[in-house]
Amino acid sequence: MPLKNSATRWGSVSMGLHWLVVALILLMAWIGLRMGGMPNGPDKIATYALHKSVGISILALAVLRLAWRAVAGAPGHVAGTPAWQARIATLAHVALYALLLAIPLSGWVVNSSAGFPLQWFGLFNLPAIAGKDQGLHALAEQVHEWLFWTLVLVAVAHAAAAIHHHLFLRDDTLARMLPRGWLRVADKETHDA
Ligand code: HEM
Ligand code: HEM
Repeated sequence: MPLKNSATRWGSVSMGLHWLVVALILLMAWIGLRMGGMPNGPDKIATYALHKSVGISILALAVLRLAWRAVAGAPGHVAGTPAWQARIATLAHVALYALLLAIPLSGWVVNSSAGFPLQWFGLFNLPAIAGKDQGLHALAEQVHEWLFWTLVLVAVAHAAAAIHHHLFLRDDTLARMLPRGWLRVADKETHDA
């Protein structure tokens, strides 16, 4: 499988990063939504630390992904896509990238404004990106939570669109984000440019 993206298919790097981030977001949703209700103690502290380290990793992966996209390009819209649908898809992708940056950054502000230190898997410290401030802390918590629910909405619509393309429009949209041969596209073939 080629590393780079072609005019009609995603390469292994973009594909790998897409599905790795999907898996990490699911893990983060599960950790994030249950950690607040944990009893105080070392398990809770470790869970918060894990949430923050994985969250910072998602931020780094989003930057890496955008950098790779700038180098490797991206396939064009699947042939036959009406212009209005292509526009909505592009808008959703821009929103998803923006959320992948904004959610961890808002979490970082939650942490910094509480005056807590930030470590990445206990290996190194990251600087504070805001001063200690109770008002900012309360606001950042709200923003972090609402950005997360916005991601849930956009990602569900995005996934539903991909599945709709596969099952009903029977085009390459989903198949080209998966290794060749994983999904059969009825009546049509996937070609590399
Ligand atoms: C894409 C990455 C991230 C996702 C999807 C995510 C998701 C979540 C979710 C769902 C919650 C629970 C919200 C609630 O019910 O109140 C939460 C809380 C929290 N997150 Fe994240 N988070 C991410 C990154 C980060 C990062 C990088 C940090 C810190 C460096 C962080 C710090 C926190 C903190 C401190 C809370 C608890 C806030 C509170 O006490 O209400 N998060 N996060
Ligand atoms: C947290 C969840 C998700 C996020 C943040 C996300 C993010 C993204 C982003 C940013 C792109 C645009 C890639 C680019 O143009 O550079 C993309 C493409 C794509 N995503 Fe997702 N995605 C998520 C979940 C899913 C799921 C669950 C599916 C399938 C059921 C899916 C299927 C696709 C497909 C097929 C493409 C390629 C579209 C095309 O080639 O035109 N995504 N995704």
